Amino acid sequence: MEILPLGRTTFGNPANAGNVLSKEDANALLREWVKNEKLQLHMRQVGHLMRCWAAENEKLDEAGQWRWELAGLLHDADWDLWPELHCRKIIEELERLQVDPEIIRAIASHGPRYFGVEPESNMDKMLYAFDELSGLVHAYSLMRPDGYAGMDVKGVKKRLKEKSFAANVSREDIQDACMRAGIAQDELIGFVVANQLQH
Ligand SMILES: [Fe+2]
Ligand SMILES: [Fe+2]
Repeated sequence: MEILPLGRTTFGNPANAGNVLSKEDANALLREWVKNEKLQLHMRQVGHLMRCWAAENEKLDEAGQWRWELAGLLHDADWDLWPELHCRKIIEELERLQVDPEIIRAIASHGPRYFGVEPESNMDKMLYAFDELSGLVHAYSLMRPDGYAGMDVKGVKKRLKEKSFAANVSREDIQDACMRAGIAQDELIGFVVANQLQH
């Protein structure tokens, strides 16, 4: 399926800076739009990683952590029902709900090769970085007898090199995202392995 570039690079209204959805509203939107449980889990995992990064590396308070989590939580919200409108539809919805433009922009730049929006802020860059890699790490956890427990960076790197493993995960995007974020791939893998969603 072809995903069309968004055709614009500014999103939301600056007057809405600081506006977020409540956890209840964000979860309601997620449940209403995303029926596919695997996709829901992926979005929650990315949201969790974003929250952890915001806390540990950006030193943000609870409100700041939620802004990062929200971007991750909703980044693929339209993929299930309107794949051909990914991520146009969720951007329009968040604009309608008057959400902080920084959050909308992060979602709009989570696939620069597809959407034509370059990740600029740290939030943009980390969402892009966590998206593909967390998918591969999750696939790896499913083939391990102990799941995430005892997983190490070396094992993930092995799977990364195996092109046939989780073949839909773009190794190119992971490399590109690390470069843009200025993070060594090992460090990013270590962070994803160490900060898994407990459920
Ligand atoms: Fe996506
Ligand atoms: Fe995603």
